[in-house]
Amino acid sequence: MAITLTKDHAVGVIGAGTMGTGIAQAASTYGHKVYLYDVSDKARQKSEKGLIKILNRQVEKNRMTQEEVNGIRDRIHYVDSISELANCHLTIEAIIEDLDIKQKTFRDLEKLVSDDAVLTTNTSSLSIASISSALIKPERFLGTHFFNPAPLMPLVEIIPGIPTSYDTVKSTRALIDAWGKTTVLAKDTPGFIVNRVARPFYSEAIRQLEEGVADVATIDWAMKAIGGFKMGPFELMDFIGHDVNYKVTETVFEAFYYDPRFKPSFTQKRLVEAGFLGRKSGRGFYDYREGATNPEPLKDSQLGQKIVNRILVMLFNEASDAVFMNVATVNDIDTAMTKGVNYPKGLLKWADEWGLDAVLDHLEALQDEYGEDRYRPNPLIKRMVRSGSKFYK
Ligand SMILES: NC(=O)c1ccc[n+]([C@@H]2O[C@H](COP(=O)([O-])OP(=O)(O)OC[C@H]3O[C@@H](n4cnc5c(N)ncnc54)[C@H](O)[C@@H]3O)[C@@H](O)[C@H]2O)c1
Repeated sequence: MAITLTKDHAVGVIGAGTMGTGIAQAASTYGHKVYLYDVSDKARQKSEKGLIKILNRQVEKNRMTQEEVNGIRDRIHYVDSISELANCHLTIEAIIEDLDIKQKTFRDLEKLVSDDAVLTTNTSSLSIASISSALIKPERFLGTHFFNPAPLMPLVEIIPGIPTSYDTVKSTRALIDAWGKTTVLAKDTPGFIVNRVARPFYSEAIRQLEEGVADVATIDWAMKAIGGFKMGPFELMDFIGHDVNYKVTETVFEAFYYDPRFKPSFTQKRLVEAGFLGRKSGRGFYDYREGATNPEPLKDSQLGQKIVNRILVMLFNEASDAVFMNVATVNDIDTAMTKGVNYPKGLLKWADEWGLDAVLDHLEALQDEYGEDRYRPNPLIKRMVRSGSKFYK
């Protein structure tokens, strides 16, 4: 029986990188004592410096008082040995994305913590099942997938593995909800919800670029001005980094046994090979170097609408597949995309508004034109059109 987790329980975080630091901040803000462990002295120092900077900015912007910020800082204890996590009742792992290293870390951790401690991973691309097999008591283990930046992004995907107990899920979810996060429940399938459903946002934009439908600036402009998205797909890929974004696409593609729906693109692979990683390297689809000029979009609303519709129907198709395959509920899928990646509207609600018959027509037209399996309409959409039903009553 898993314990009921509360504010009084100490939280362990393993990995003081981008995600670990953000998760530690979120836990401490709620009031937990946090033990933040990293193997690297440099990483711990960088994390602490970054955290102090972020917290000080909160005071400057009058979002928090100095006292609150001091409290958050003081509750986080940077530690250089995993043994310091022995008294933590919840430990969240956010280290390098490597199965062997994650498994070894959990083996070491399990020897130290109490029998009723809950252990979670922030993995984006490994299965919860594969990590859990290293544990003696895998029933107290699950995935808690935060989004970057973790203190700001509300979404956390909760992913039970095959052996995870119901109590562990319930208790962990209730605690993370109490932190002020929005949790959704996802099946242990590749990409969980967001990283699976969002693939066409990138891939169908690149595909249209490759075909010469429009250039990057025009596609980005269309997705923002007409689609209502905060960032265009190319801007977003440049921001995420092509090494990271390409890797996620490749992992999802492999994990789905090479389903053509998830096929990565040569265009993005070439950028990675050339070291054009996006903002962080100064060049990606756009040029970020000082004095560089970038192309202006062609603001043609008819062309823009066509671009947006083609990306949207592919997103609707993917979101429908996640419902069809019971990855998550209709509500959780829509919540995940609005709270995890800031989509302007839930995709399934949006598909309802379009009319599922119109979505199906568009997908069938694409499949007819290209003859590619990538455009095959999801059986659930076909079924719903036949029965005249909608995702929301
Ligand atoms: N960056 C994102 O946007 C994002 C979003 C969601 C999930 N994730 C996942 O979160 C995890 C961490 O990603 P990140 O971007 O924060 O990585 P990162 O590279 O910023 O940080 C990883 C940290 O782990 C430390 N580390 C490596 N091996 C260790 C070990 N054996 N013990 C203790 N510390 C160790 C490293 O020193 C480093 O500081 C990965 O599983 C990643 O897939 C990342």
